[in-house]
Amino acid sequence: MKKRILSGVQSSGTPTLGNYLGAFKNWVDLQNEGVYDCLYCVVDLHAITVRRPPEELRRQTYEMYALLLAIGLDPKVNTLFVQSHVPAHAELSWILNCYTMYGELSRMTQFKDKSARHAGNVNAGLFTYPVLMAADILLYQAHLVPVGGDQKQHVELSRDVAIRFNGIYGEVFTLPEPYIPPVGGRIMSLQDPTRKMDKSDPNPSAKILLTESDDSILKKCKRAVTDSDSQVRYDPATKPGVSNLMAIYALATGKTIPEIENEFSGLGYGAFKPAVGQAVVALLSPARREYERLMADIGYLESVMRDGRDRAAAAAAATMEKVRNAIGFVSL
Ligand code: TYM
Repeated sequence: MKKRILSGVQSSGTPTLGNYLGAFKNWVDLQNEGVYDCLYCVVDLHAITVRRPPEELRRQTYEMYALLLAIGLDPKVNTLFVQSHVPAHAELSWILNCYTMYGELSRMTQFKDKSARHAGNVNAGLFTYPVLMAADILLYQAHLVPVGGDQKQHVELSRDVAIRFNGIYGEVFTLPEPYIPPVGGRIMSLQDPTRKMDKSDPNPSAKILLTESDDSILKKCKRAVTDSDSQVRYDPATKPGVSNLMAIYALATGKTIPEIENEFSGLGYGAFKPAVGQAVVALLSPARREYERLMADIGYLESVMRDGRDRAAAAAAATMEKVRNAIGFVSL
C-alpha cells in the first residue's frame, strides 16, 4: 500500500501566492513523485466558522476546486473532493472532540488570532476548528500533511489526539507528520513583511491572488515594501521584505538564494523587483487561463467532484468502521 497524503484548503476567498508556494506547489510535486496516494480537499465546513453569504461560499468552493485542477492536480491520479460531500468528517470530528482537551485548544495561536479578528462571532466552531482538521487527516490514515508553517501547530495537535486515542483503543489511527517546505513555508505580506500573506487581508496590495492579471502582479511586485539599503541579500531578520521577494523568486525560478544574490549583485532593487514580477507572471498565468476555461464548465467540475467524493467516502468508511468498533458503538 502506498503511503497516504492528505491536505486541504478553505474555500474562503481566492487563494494567494502564499497558498500556492507554501502548499499547492508541494501538492503537485508530491503527486508527480508518484509514490504517494494523495487526497486533497476543499474544506467548506471549516470556511463557515466565519460568517459568509451562501452564494459566496458556493461560488468560492467551485473556484477553489477549479484552481486546484488548473495548477496541475490530476483528478485521475489524486482524490480531489469537497469536505462537506463526505459526512464522515463531521462525524469523526464530534468523536475526536471527546478526546481533545479544552486546554489544548486554548493554546492554538490561530484561534487566538481569529477570535481577536472576529470578536463579534467567537463561535464554538472557531474553537474546535483544529479538531475538524484532525478528523480530516486521521479519517484517511494520512502519513504526511503538506502545509505552510502556520498549520504546523494544528498538525501536531492531530498527532497528539491520535496518540491519545490509540493509547486507549490500540492502533486505530496512523500518526501524521507535517511536511513544510524549507523555503516558502511562510510567504509574507508584500506591504508588511512581518505578517504572513493572507487571503483574508483587506489590503489588496499585500497579496497576489492566483487569478490576478499579469499587469497587476507586476505592479504589486514593484510596489512591495523593502528596506532603504538596496542590496539584494537574504536576511529575513533585518531585511524581511527583500528576503520574502527572494524566497518567491527562488521558488518561481528554481534558482538558489546564493545564485540570486549573485545575479543581482550591484544591480539593486530597481532590477530585482521587476524580475520577481516577471517570474511570478510566468508561474501563474498558464494556471489562470486554465482556471478560466474550467470555470466555464461547471458540469465538468461537478462530475469530477462526484468522483472524488465517492473515492474519499470509500476510504473514510474503512476508518469509521474501525473507530466505531473501537469505541463500542453498536453496529447493526
Ligand atoms: P488555509 O486555507 O488557510 O491555507 C491553505 C494552505 O496554504 C498555506 N498557506 C501558506 N503557506 C505559506 N505562506 C503563506 N503566507 C500561507 N498562507 C497559507 C497553509 O499553511 C495551508 O497549508 N486549516 C487549514 C485547512 C485545512 C487542512 C486540513 C490542511 C483543513 N483541514 C487538513 C491540512 C490538512 C487552513 O485554514 O489552510
